[in-house]
Amino acid sequence: MINQFLWVIFPYVCLAVFVVGHIYRYRTDQFNWTAKSSEFIEKKKLKLGSLMFHLGILPVIGGHVVGLAIPQSWMEAAGVNDHMYHIGAVYIGSAFGLLTLGGMILLTSRRFTIRHVRRLSSASDMIVNVLLLFIVFMGMYSTLVTNAVQREFNYRESISIWFRDLFILRPDAALMVNVPLSFKIHILAGFGIFALWPFTRLVHVWSVPLNYVGRRYILYRKHRNYES
Ligand code: HEM
Repeated sequence: MINQFLWVIFPYVCLAVFVVGHIYRYRTDQFNWTAKSSEFIEKKKLKLGSLMFHLGILPVIGGHVVGLAIPQSWMEAAGVNDHMYHIGAVYIGSAFGLLTLGGMILLTSRRFTIRHVRRLSSASDMIVNVLLLFIVFMGMYSTLVTNAVQREFNYRESISIWFRDLFILRPDAALMVNVPLSFKIHILAGFGIFALWPFTRLVHVWSVPLNYVGRRYILYRKHRNYES
């Protein structure tokens, strides 16, 4: 019963909230559809942390698509055997994962330690930061520690099949029962962030600000009393 809840009901609820929540937010709250930049309070850490996070997370998402969506047999048919796949996943995945983690540590410490950034942050800003940091940390832990300790575990024979089955509406909780705990926590928190997404600043992801490239600068001036 608990497995059915965790690996079937919970993921579907999160995905449903993700879709319906975005429609609701777009219809009712377009004015607040924003990344809510706090650049005018503190710039240095934000620039570095944000750059590291975004440069890291894009390849990490690409890695998730390859590892979760493409069946192992297809990769093998294309000449990528298990050994080659894992070398790529561990080395390339870890390099970009560490970049993402470093960025998240900087962004989260900035949000909690700089007084004016903290005061400007809503509960949802804080939760998103901490949850993202936690997800990325658990992903790195699973990749570097769990994979090394439980060498016989191959997530492409369990997690990836379970994940694809969800999307063809043939969910199978049994595939997740023997998955190591760190992966389970990573995945549940990963689905959790999808449920929170529409109600947070993460909605900015869908408004990729490509016009930034050509538009004029917006000048932010620091208020004397806002020195941190
Ligand atoms: C919701 C479904 C998700 C699933 C099923 C999933 C699954 C996985 C798996 C199987 C790994 C291990 C990869 C390996 O060892 O080669 C991993 C690693 C990782 N995940 Fe996720 N993940 C999910 C969501 C997320 C989210 C939302 C984030 C970021 C916010 C994330 C960030 C990471 C990172 C940074 C790593 C370590 C680096 C890497 O291997 O790419 N994951 N994830």
